[in-house]
Amino acid sequence: MNIRAFLNDRVRNAMSDVGIPADYSPNVSISKKEGFGDYQANGAMAAAKALKSNPRDIAQSIVGSLELGQIAETVEIAGPGFINIHLSNDWLAQQLQEISAEIQKSTATEEEPHNVVIDYSSPNLAKEMHVGHLRSTIIGDAIARVLEFLGHNVVRQNHVGDWGTQFGMLITELEEQMQSGDAAEFALQDLEGFYQQAKKRFDDDPEFANTAREYVVKLQSGDPKVLKLWEQFKSVSLHHSEEIYKKLNVTLTPQDVRGESAYNDQLKPIVDYLKEEGLAVEDDGATVVFLQELADKNGTPSPVIVQKKDGGYLYATTDLAALKYRAEELDADRVLYFIDARQSLHMQQVFTLAHKAKLVDEWTSLEHHAFGTMMGKDGKPFKTRDGGTVKLAALLDEAIERAHAIVKENQDLTEEESLNIAQKVGIGAVKYADLSKTRTNDYIFNWDSMLSFEGNTGPYMQYAYTRVRSVFRKAEIDMADFNAEIKIEAPQEKALALKTLQFSEVVEQVANDAYPHVLCNYLYDLASLFMSFYEACPILKEGTEEDVKNSRLMISKAVATTLETGLDLLGIEVMEKM
Ligand code: ARG
Repeated sequence: MNIRAFLNDRVRNAMSDVGIPADYSPNVSISKKEGFGDYQANGAMAAAKALKSNPRDIAQSIVGSLELGQIAETVEIAGPGFINIHLSNDWLAQQLQEISAEIQKSTATEEEPHNVVIDYSSPNLAKEMHVGHLRSTIIGDAIARVLEFLGHNVVRQNHVGDWGTQFGMLITELEEQMQSGDAAEFALQDLEGFYQQAKKRFDDDPEFANTAREYVVKLQSGDPKVLKLWEQFKSVSLHHSEEIYKKLNVTLTPQDVRGESAYNDQLKPIVDYLKEEGLAVEDDGATVVFLQELADKNGTPSPVIVQKKDGGYLYATTDLAALKYRAEELDADRVLYFIDARQSLHMQQVFTLAHKAKLVDEWTSLEHHAFGTMMGKDGKPFKTRDGGTVKLAALLDEAIERAHAIVKENQDLTEEESLNIAQKVGIGAVKYADLSKTRTNDYIFNWDSMLSFEGNTGPYMQYAYTRVRSVFRKAEIDMADFNAEIKIEAPQEKALALKTLQFSEVVEQVANDAYPHVLCNYLYDLASLFMSFYEACPILKEGTEEDVKNSRLMISKAVATTLETGLDLLGIEVMEKM
């Protein structure tokens, strides 16, 4: 149930009844201020202006035709012509009752599911995943979950960097270490160290460097021995990433990997095609497309190099080939990229060129959902104490350790329970801290605030969920099977019921705009309203009437399920106690 959309339709009907042309929107939204109803329709003003009449009169006639029956308690006109709608308690109770039957699970109502391709995580396999990959991985995954939840066909694409000249030196080093008896898994245990070692050999040892260059050529021509080494390297490196995905509760699987190398044989055809279409031209030996569409303020077009002087292809060429594949083979309606804001120009160039060259239909939506950088407390990009890059695996282990130190203070938990809970709390804290910030901004990574049980944090959300579970435990009722009639009387009950019912509006918004913090803010408001309800409306207290108690348990159950579902969309797990 999307209340906003529902009211919007009703007001639209009323507007049409009083002769307002259909291109004027009812403009229904959630009221921001207390005392202005639950929803507001603000369309009367714009319509009045165009029709050159008095906005309050227009609002009055719309209200006169508005058929809301039992839905609204009152509808009033305020200010210059706002229509304030106060929903009725009975109607809200009935709606909540209805969703309780399915409890938010089956919002998968999308009548026309889209094919949505989501490019996220996509680390370079030459190195270990570091904090720079965290945001893409968890934001992309949250949006993938949200779109899937709404019933869309989501294709995840892990566009890993598995090609390029650095693989020459890496497999040369790998071959040497394997010749001295090490298994590939062992040699590549510390991928970061391995990379540095290979780089040092490459810089210091001319013979090594020669072999490395030779291997690049052999790799490109498909030499079986070199290809096999490369495959081994990739497989171990991918395995590192997969461990991180598992630890992070991220839904990417090996089937979602389609690396840069998958497009190798499409690169020449793409460049040839761009030349045939007259889009790509020779420029100082290289092949370049000049995009007037992205010209700077002096009118100089934006150059996209698709082939270098030495014949090598570029990052953009591969992205064009990937887009063609996504449009043609995956039949994408939308392609979403979760990549650092620093790649914005690159993405803009690729999108503009792909549309212009008709590699992708013009109605296919190509979207770069950019994000800012994760900063340390000092306001500079997050680094280790000695200035190195922070490995993701180490960061996540630290999160779990820190969470464990907090969780084990609860003496009622067994060691096994507290370890299990710490896992969920630690990972949840890191993810929630990231997802709850407006993604386009940089944000400061701070252990203390993300692990706090107060405020808009992961642990607070998980704690709110366990509060409900503990009420049911105390009542000795199995929450999953519980059913009773909902009645709404207290203002805290109304506010909570209304918020709970707004879940699907929020999820739809997140699916459209890909801003997960909107969902976090919603869940935080929901949890906070639950806490106020819990204070004001006794549930299990002696003397509470049976039907009131049961109704409040039902409201609590709806909140718990909404929290659980919402957190699951963010890739965060809940537990019964903590
Ligand atoms: N491998 C790239 C990096 O680590 C990210 C790739 C993003 N996806 C893409 N289709 N360009 O920076």
